Amino acid sequence: MLATMQNILGHIKPGLFLRDYWQTRSLLVRNAIKNPGRAINGDTLAGLALEDNIRSRIVQQTDNPRSWLCRYGPFDEHDFARLPETHWTLLVQDVDKHLPYSADILEYFSFLPRWRIDDLMISYAVDGGSVGPHTDQYDVFLIQASGQRKWLLQADDIDSDNLLENTELQILKNFNPETEYLLNPGDMLYLPPGIAHYGIAIGECITFSVGFRAPSQADLLQAYAEQFSLHTDKPQFYRDTDPGSTGRSELTLTDIAHMHQLMMQTVDNEALMIRAIGNLLTTPTDTPSLHEMPDMGPGDFTELLGKTSSISLHPATRCIYINDENGVILYVNATEYRFGDSIKTLIIELCDMYGLRKESIGHIMQDQQLLPLLHDLYQQGYLYLENTNI
Ligand code: SIN
Ligand code: CO
Repeated sequence: MLATMQNILGHIKPGLFLRDYWQTRSLLVRNAIKNPGRAINGDTLAGLALEDNIRSRIVQQTDNPRSWLCRYGPFDEHDFARLPETHWTLLVQDVDKHLPYSADILEYFSFLPRWRIDDLMISYAVDGGSVGPHTDQYDVFLIQASGQRKWLLQADDIDSDNLLENTELQILKNFNPETEYLLNPGDMLYLPPGIAHYGIAIGECITFSVGFRAPSQADLLQAYAEQFSLHTDKPQFYRDTDPGSTGRSELTLTDIAHMHQLMMQTVDNEALMIRAIGNLLTTPTDTPSLHEMPDMGPGDFTELLGKTSSISLHPATRCIYINDENGVILYVNATEYRFGDSIKTLIIELCDMYGLRKESIGHIMQDQQLLPLLHDLYQQGYLYLENTNI
């Protein structure tokens, strides 16, 4: 279960931040979090980067100061032993899912929808380490966990073909920063999408990036098309309106307009749209640290729940709920569940708090609707039961 955290935005209230900064302007907050990096060091990250299925990369600046090399994990001990003393960075994605205790930091961002959070990425850099000047598509909160990092920012519009040619990384060729900040442990820099930035480690340092995500048009279309093809019982096909009036191989703009219309009719289905978006936004990331539980029947699971003082969801769980006229539709890890209004408050608690309190567990024991869901999540390793006497 998660605790309520202090305001991470310094003297700025969340409402004001959402109105004046979110998705539009950068914001520097000094002393935003006390001791953010106390449990994570370079060795912790290097350990994660040795594992399969954990996304990691090492970005190294070569002798030529305008040249960056990128290698992807998993790495082995020799890879680390060969690294020079300066000018490299190790970056590990999804640390919140691999080290569940690190996910606590996400609670500082409870003023934003949880489904918008992508991951906690952590970088460890030696002196001079950087990933080069670049822009990101997504909002990010950069929290200095230990050591110092200098950030250079350029807020002006960046030309999309202004990229260095000698690297696969999207590094800007021309970068003319107008702002410079030196971040100390606990300081935080918020960047909206599209602001060019360049973070250079001053000595050894660790930076947390709380990255946000938003579906692209292509993601939405693809998710919808998938649901449409699975659930359409009466497929409709294009029909000629005026065949033969054109050149034999010509496809007319009118034909295309008819096909376009046929296509547009398909997206007018709210139920499918809900399902497509619900599944898309809750598809979980591959998490090797999840441990499936040995098979347990529903009776034994219920008995176990009776001895439980609280329930927590693994941070790799993705869940959202949607209110509709029949109650609530819940999506957990791309699976849909429908519930009546009577247990709506329990669903909201489960999603918002990533868990349930003892009193709420007591309600579930009487209302059988949620039990199969919790049982499934428990079997898959997404649910922790705390203080059981077993
Ligand atoms: C880093 O942590 O070194 C890079 C983060 C970023 O620029 O997005
Ligand atoms: Co970036």
